[in-house]
Amino acid sequence: MSFRTLDGLAVAGRRVLLRADLNVPVHDGAISDLTRIERLTPSIRELAEKGAKVIVCSHFGRPRHGPEPALSLAPVAAALGKVLGRHVAFAPDCVGPAAEAAVGRMAPGEVLVLENTRFHPGEEANDPDFARALAALADLYVNDAFSTAHRAHASTEGVAHLLAAYAGRLMQAELEALEAALGKPVRPVAAVVGGAKVSTKLDLLGHLVGRVDLLMIGGAMANTFLAAQGHAVGRSLQEAELHATARDILARAGAAGCAVVLPEDVVVAGELRPGVASRTVGLDGVGAADMILDVGPATVARLERRLAGLKTLIWNGPLGAFETPPFDAATLALARAVAAATVSGGLRSVAGGGDTVAALRAAGVMEQFSYVSTAGGAFLEWMEGRVLPGVAALGGKAA
Ligand code: 3PG
Repeated sequence: MSFRTLDGLAVAGRRVLLRADLNVPVHDGAISDLTRIERLTPSIRELAEKGAKVIVCSHFGRPRHGPEPALSLAPVAAALGKVLGRHVAFAPDCVGPAAEAAVGRMAPGEVLVLENTRFHPGEEANDPDFARALAALADLYVNDAFSTAHRAHASTEGVAHLLAAYAGRLMQAELEALEAALGKPVRPVAAVVGGAKVSTKLDLLGHLVGRVDLLMIGGAMANTFLAAQGHAVGRSLQEAELHATARDILARAGAAGCAVVLPEDVVVAGELRPGVASRTVGLDGVGAADMILDVGPATVARLERRLAGLKTLIWNGPLGAFETPPFDAATLALARAVAAATVSGGLRSVAGGGDTVAALRAAGVMEQFSYVSTAGGAFLEWMEGRVLPGVAALGGKAA
């Protein structure tokens, strides 16, 4: 992993194209979570205070046929201005005459947000002409969007080969935290992997068993492992066609010296509904009509005991159907235990993925983890050991 940072970079009077991830969640037309915007402020402030003309670009949503008013970045630019406490200008296009004119009006220290890059098909196609049009707006390129670095798009990859490219402070923090968690972790290191399906996390599990000392598997994906071991799982979500794969993962973990913790008790109910009557049972107590919806308290207690001996923990995916109480209990309990172990100084804890972040927020422990990534797909791909094109491209041309 090699990249240049903003350290010592002379930007006064220069036009800096900052690739941000302004792909913020929106509910009923309002931005429902400002975390991604807030995390951009260190880079934007630093560049603006050093006299750069800060030209922010980003995608927003997944427009399919050109411009869509609902996916305009104009309201997001206004929100960025509020968070920064300064005027933020907006250009109604990200390339061409409107963008060029808006950049031409900028004075050093000013911030401009360009319209959604995905309004142009050239963005996702990583079209060289579109990348050149973006690059033409600036003298330098700063990528502060780890969460979109798994996309080889023009604004995340193509443009990095056309301008001197640097990692912004958020990208830097993210890469440093991830490197410390899985690249060169202090051992023993554990991974907690949850979520619904083994099929979406096969590459992840395969990569992790060779790198971590302890793998804790929860969520509905644990059902596939339990069923593969011959346990009855009733009507639980599971992937019968992946039983052999699950057994293979367990065998590979054994060969690599990676201990795997699967649920030893589970919480079951007849349906997934808030407040529905539920029972905690051992693995031999799951009835034909039951659905496993959370791991049980004995499993959580066992995981908590294992925390004491760990130095590093990385977490992706909830342990149960945490959006639907009471099936959030195990995820919330483990989140609080990891937070406490982190605060007391013994553990470095890194978590990421949309559901995981929502669960940590619900547990009120976002600030107590060593690092919480707001990246979804990029975090997962990075945990799978893949090269992210947006990160790889930062190793390119120097100023
Ligand atoms: C995200 O929200 O995970 C990133 O912004 C990437 O968005 P995408 O999946 O639409 O590329």
